[in-house]
Amino acid sequence: MSVSLPPAGTYEVDPAQSSVTFTTRHLFGLGRVSGTFQVESGRVTIAEPVTHSTARAVVEARSFHTGTARRDDHVRSPAFLHAERWPEIRFESTRVARGAEGAWVVKGLLTVRGHQAPVELTVDALSVENGSLRISASTSVDRYRHGLTASKGLAARWLRLTLTTIAHPVPSTAAPAAEATAASAVEHAAQREEISMSPKIAVIYYSSTGTVHELAEAVADGARKEGAEVRLLRVSELAPEEAIAANDAWSAHASATKDIPVATPADIEWADAVIFGSPTRFGNIASQLKQFIDTLGGLWAQGKLADKVYSGFTATATAHGGQESTLLALYNSVHHFGGIIVTPGYTDPVKFADGNPYGTSHVNGQGALPVDDTARAAAAYQGKRVATVTARFNNA
Ligand SMILES: Cc1cc2nc3c(=O)[nH]c(=O)nc-3n(C[C@H](O)[C@H](O)[C@H](O)COP(=O)(O)O)c2cc1C
Repeated sequence: MSVSLPPAGTYEVDPAQSSVTFTTRHLFGLGRVSGTFQVESGRVTIAEPVTHSTARAVVEARSFHTGTARRDDHVRSPAFLHAERWPEIRFESTRVARGAEGAWVVKGLLTVRGHQAPVELTVDALSVENGSLRISASTSVDRYRHGLTASKGLAARWLRLTLTTIAHPVPSTAAPAAEATAASAVEHAAQREEISMSPKIAVIYYSSTGTVHELAEAVADGARKEGAEVRLLRVSELAPEEAIAANDAWSAHASATKDIPVATPADIEWADAVIFGSPTRFGNIASQLKQFIDTLGGLWAQGKLADKVYSGFTATATAHGGQESTLLALYNSVHHFGGIIVTPGYTDPVKFADGNPYGTSHVNGQGALPVDDTARAAAAYQGKRVATVTARFNNA
């Protein structure tokens, strides 16, 4: 195993030089099956300290390939990956840490067919060649955790995945030297363009039973697709353990999302835009999110909450249960920050379907009505809109 730490910076994955290979077993675990997926895009940011590094990758579901056409069609079909409905398999890191045997481990969330579950990628090899990163990392994936439960007994539950990739450095955004030539000025302008296209967005939410979390994922996805660098973060839980344990949906959601990083004031300082999400609590935001907002006094006193873009989304149990009042209550605080509130309004046809110009909202019918395509589309649009408007502000 060869792992030496590369220089800090951002590296763009080169799809032409990247792939995911997998091995698994079929027929009661007797036969070995191996194949590949193609990598569509990805980005690695090496930070200092290295534990603050991030990685994300998107893999095309329809690129599943084992060389046996019948099997490949079946795995891409609605019975398994449902590649037409869920074209992307996504990995988003949540933490980088040293593993038990000293190897670097990138912990994160893998989304397959819309089902998200934690995975840990072990970095088996990492080297720098002509300034580019060459990375090999591997993990085991439990397909059942992603809802791929067809053909139990015929196809194995676990897959061993190996990602090999080359990622090229993204030009630094440092100011040009005084003696910059016209050519380097043009290059710098291009870099500024890149900054403006990559606003930094923190999606910070509280969710007890998962509704707002699902909206948060869709908001984050919408912003990422618009080129934003997104941190998806939850706020700390304040409820007593006994209260959580007494509610199956609450405790299941708490354990499923325990690897999502907890927001800190530093994330707000980092962000150009903050999109807050909270379930309604008697027409107001949840105390967990309020408590987080109350930790921002220090930043407020330094004027560091001002001039950022803010937006919000929510969920209620009932149709007129306080969606608008919750978002307006959230936006009260933004006025105190000196923030710039960017709502979706009715700026896209999807808003006439979900119907809430103040922000995305969903009625979950006491848990009986999971987040649907209408709410997901509105959430993705809100992420996209915040990213677009923030890029415009960055560029002004
Ligand atoms: C203390 C408390 C107060 C609530 N108040 C309201 C309310 O005023 N109106 C409403 O429709 N739902 C209310 N709810 C329900 C939640 O807001 C709703 O189920 C929400 O969609 C759950 O989101 P989550 O799954 O992300 O936790 C309340 C729930 C709790 C626990």
